[in-house]
Amino acid sequence: MTSRIRKAIIPAAGFGTRMLPATKSVPKELLPIVDRPIIDYIVEEAFEAGIEHVVIVTGRMKTAIEDHFDRAFELDATLRESGKGKLADRIAASTPSVGAISFIRQQEARGLGHAVWTARHAIGEEPFAVLLPDMVMTGAEPCLKSMVALHDRLGGNVIAVERCAPEDAHKFGIVSFTQTPEGPLVTGLVEKPAPGTAPSNCYISGRYILQPEIFGLLEEQEPGAGGEVQLTDALVRLMAMQPIRAFEFRGRTFDCGAPAGLVSANLAFAMARPELAEALHDEVQAAAALAIEARASAA
Ligand code: UTP
Repeated sequence: MTSRIRKAIIPAAGFGTRMLPATKSVPKELLPIVDRPIIDYIVEEAFEAGIEHVVIVTGRMKTAIEDHFDRAFELDATLRESGKGKLADRIAASTPSVGAISFIRQQEARGLGHAVWTARHAIGEEPFAVLLPDMVMTGAEPCLKSMVALHDRLGGNVIAVERCAPEDAHKFGIVSFTQTPEGPLVTGLVEKPAPGTAPSNCYISGRYILQPEIFGLLEEQEPGAGGEVQLTDALVRLMAMQPIRAFEFRGRTFDCGAPAGLVSANLAFAMARPELAEALHDEVQAAAALAIEARASAA
């Protein structure tokens, strides 16, 4: 029988250099998608998948993330006194219950693999999920929920994959897999392959279910691409010991760690809200017309 997935790690200790200077003093994970910080959407996905305990790996300059998930008594009282009880209720309802989230410091940003390893004692000897907080996913069913269902059925490790343009494959962790009666089984993984050498255009899109044996492998993992301890490199070694299944996510993913992804996510989420959609529609049309004009006069 497979163990239930009860815990999730959200590694959030990276520098967020692609979003500088916005991330010089504000954690990337707290940049907004409309009126909620990015990390809210990720924590929500975890709880929707049945996760009971979320471990957020943070670092220096990231303490505001802890404050975000805390009760804000003064704010609550002020909102209620000024007749904004509904807003206060909404904020209180979105604050996770006591003990549902804990925080661990990575101390030194040595890579995603190292960040996951940092949380090993909080996870213990059970399978767990990892959600990258900059990858915001939307679809008919939350990505992690589908992956948990797959794990409940078949066990092993599961990684979410999506397809990118072949010329973009060098930017990602790339997987190749083979079809089996139980679904796609991963046969190869490579982190940021040199341009033109990627074995496929399927990239690891930021959600994992892993068995606890990964921690021992991460402990002795040498730094790889970018001089960082790469989770993908440890997964290559895990693949020799245990099955790693690929779950092909069919929704939409926004890489909110980069400007184009964050702006697109803001647009998509705002347009999904009737109270914002109408005003935004005109604004988007006007901006697009201006861009076309500017391009024409530059040509
Ligand atoms: P990224 O590769 O996106 O790194 O890490 P980053 O620092 O956040 O962003 P850029 O590339 O400099 O713009 C993937 C995830 O792993 C976490 C990041 O916070 C991000 O969620 N991470 C990365 C850590 O927690 N610790 C690390 O040492 C490195």
